[in-house]
Amino acid sequence: MRVVLATGNAGKVREFADLLAPAGFEFVTQATFGIEPPEETGHTFLDNALLKARYAASRSGLPAMADDSGLEVDALQGAPGVYSARYAGPQASDADNVDKLLKALADVPQRARSARFRCVIALVMRADDPAPYIGTGVWEGRILSAPRGTGGFGYDPVFEDPGSARSAAELGAAEKHARSHRGMALAALLAEWQRRR
Ligand code: IMP
Repeated sequence: MRVVLATGNAGKVREFADLLAPAGFEFVTQATFGIEPPEETGHTFLDNALLKARYAASRSGLPAMADDSGLEVDALQGAPGVYSARYAGPQASDADNVDKLLKALADVPQRARSARFRCVIALVMRADDPAPYIGTGVWEGRILSAPRGTGGFGYDPVFEDPGSARSAAELGAAEKHARSHRGMALAALLAEWQRRR
């Protein structure tokens, strides 16, 4: 099935390419259709994932899949959460966001730096699809005091995976997918897809 991938985030596009290849989905990015990402006005990951998927489906006339994800830090009462992409401002780079996060946690000791990535993926068959496919995933970890590693994207260099004691940016792509919120959310969505077909 041909699906529009409703994201402009290059890191996510790379991960979806890996994760969707074995499932038999052929995906095209929304940029191929000249679709600009809509404003993310939702207050939850689910709201924003659905909003992005419905928008891409309405503009392309094809089924569309979108991921909304973010980092929840306990010492910051769940921030940056749904605002993870724009934590350091509307045009913030990954480095700006990481820098702001490390500054906000400068006085927080190691034992109080628990955090998790959350991901919700929505797949709609058409813009007004009343029964979207939804998958959710969570990856528990801890925020490091300095960046480590060169892989991945976003907050990966400062997110420590407790199982391996490596940062997400020190994991290989396949290792990250096997643990990550996105890998888990997509597996859940694909299981629902199989069940309902
Ligand atoms: P959005 O889903 O487009 O609103 O953006 C999610 C933001 O959360 C990204 O821009 C990253 O900053 C962060 N994020 C989501 N998933 C990951 C990940 O797997 N690694 C690192 N950062 C992530």
